Amino acid sequence: MSDQRFSQHDIDHYHEHGFVVLENFLSQQELDDVYDDVERLLPGWRYAVDSTLLKPDGWQEPPERATNPRFPFPGAGLNGVTFHPELRRFAATVTGHDDLFCEQSDLTYKCQNHSRDADQNMHMDFGNHTLAYPSSNPKFWQTAYLIYYTDVTERLAPTAVCSWQHYKDEVHWPAIHSRQQRPDLYENEVLMTVPAGSVFAYSTRTYHRGTKFLGEGGRVAHFVTYAPKNCPWLGIVGWPTQGVRGSFQRWMEQSSLADRETIGFPPVGHEYWTEEMVRGVQARFPQLDMSPYRSTE
Ligand SMILES: [Fe+2]
Repeated sequence: MSDQRFSQHDIDHYHEHGFVVLENFLSQQELDDVYDDVERLLPGWRYAVDSTLLKPDGWQEPPERATNPRFPFPGAGLNGVTFHPELRRFAATVTGHDDLFCEQSDLTYKCQNHSRDADQNMHMDFGNHTLAYPSSNPKFWQTAYLIYYTDVTERLAPTAVCSWQHYKDEVHWPAIHSRQQRPDLYENEVLMTVPAGSVFAYSTRTYHRGTKFLGEGGRVAHFVTYAPKNCPWLGIVGWPTQGVRGSFQRWMEQSSLADRETIGFPPVGHEYWTEEMVRGVQARFPQLDMSPYRSTE
């Protein structure tokens, strides 16, 4: 296979440590397509790669106003990364099945002195990704990705992560610890210093934290998370709330069957698809090819 972007060693590392770094995962073309989108969403973002430029307007907004741009995005770049076949194949490989749902796709940006520029406490992410507790059974694992679109050096707020090897067989609640409470998690942390286009893949059972900027600069990154399908207790968003956006209609009409299904659209052959439903969905999305849904009698 020519376009495999991870190895069995990466899978083994994930199973052993609860995370893996996939350096230079994206191609230059994929990154350029992403930058076209980022330019539209965050004009002035290039400060993140050249701190001699001006910071973009709005980067200092208070947290309640600084919302992350969320899927669907205006162009093809960020939407393409959301459904990147190799991100999906990675999640399918670590969990042992491909029955997956995309439960998150948020662009994130911060810079020195931004409201999100903080030395975070060590935490797991499951608090807002599940109503329950993250399962130890790989079949139910959520696979989270933080995809870095700009270089991350030690000065540019690298994510810190602590391997599973340092906290086996514990119940994690609360799943956040200060340095004073659990110095071992901090002493064993590893910093994700990576070039643009790299991916940090981690579990909702993995301790990690954001670190503070140590100098001028910024960071643009993308949170994408896959979860097993048909587990309504899992997920950070409900995609139907995006349904009123123009970008949703545009994406729907251009998306593949598989990508639509990955955000929960009724699959081909589902009993939902009556002639009336086909007509209704066609009316809502006039450019959508409904023929696969029609021919299920
Ligand atoms: Fe986190």
